[in-house]
Amino acid sequence: MDGNGRWAKKRFLPRFFGHKAGADSLVRLIKVCQQRGVEYLTVFAFSSENWKRPEDEVSGLMGLVLVSVAKYLARLAGDNVRIVIVGDRDTVPERLRQAWADAEGRTRANTGLTLTVAFNYGGRWDVVQACRKLVREGLAPEQVDEAALARSMAMAHAPDPDLFIRTGGEMRISNFLLWQSAYAEFVFTDCLWPDFGPAELDAALAAYARRERRFGDVAPAQASRIAR
Ligand code: IPE
Ligand code: MG
Repeated sequence: MDGNGRWAKKRFLPRFFGHKAGADSLVRLIKVCQQRGVEYLTVFAFSSENWKRPEDEVSGLMGLVLVSVAKYLARLAGDNVRIVIVGDRDTVPERLRQAWADAEGRTRANTGLTLTVAFNYGGRWDVVQACRKLVREGLAPEQVDEAALARSMAMAHAPDPDLFIRTGGEMRISNFLLWQSAYAEFVFTDCLWPDFGPAELDAALAAYARRERRFGDVAPAQASRIAR
């Protein structure tokens, strides 16, 4: 969800207002995703690297989480959204840990869209913590395979992403879902996150629908030629 800061700057507002608009944008988009039949929506809210930002921006973001959970949790729970948080909880403030536990606890039995919020998350962190789990379980080297790693990852509750959207114009992954996005289709858009609405989502879904997914196989047209 990139571009909040620039969205605010364009309006001569402090960056925090961009993050606030970004949170509202997310809540609006969850509804649209449900209407479009999306079953899993995973958003990158705060990366392991975002601690490098100025202290007031970091604390602003932490505060925004608390306010957003208080403001939107009942609505999301009522909309049958299941909330899952992935990321390193050990190094976030206690109040935040409680808010996450509350959000997860109150939506655990929901069967609609699964909203995964990656917070204090990094794709590399996830690989490392999965490896640690396997070591703790005492797996022998030959028992360590892709399936063992996948089930130890923070994203084990969700299938691998089909579509990976990055807003805000940068063309990089920035340590999001490294393992899981091996075969994801990527859509990069200049649209700043607070402006990302139904029209932009539909454009991304349409782009996805035009892709031919082969997962390492040859193209179907080629395959039929080979068969002949
Ligand atoms: C993304 O928006 C939100 C977070 C990483 C929390 P940015 O804050 O990166 O916005 P820009 O890139 O400065 O516009
Ligand atoms: Mg950015």
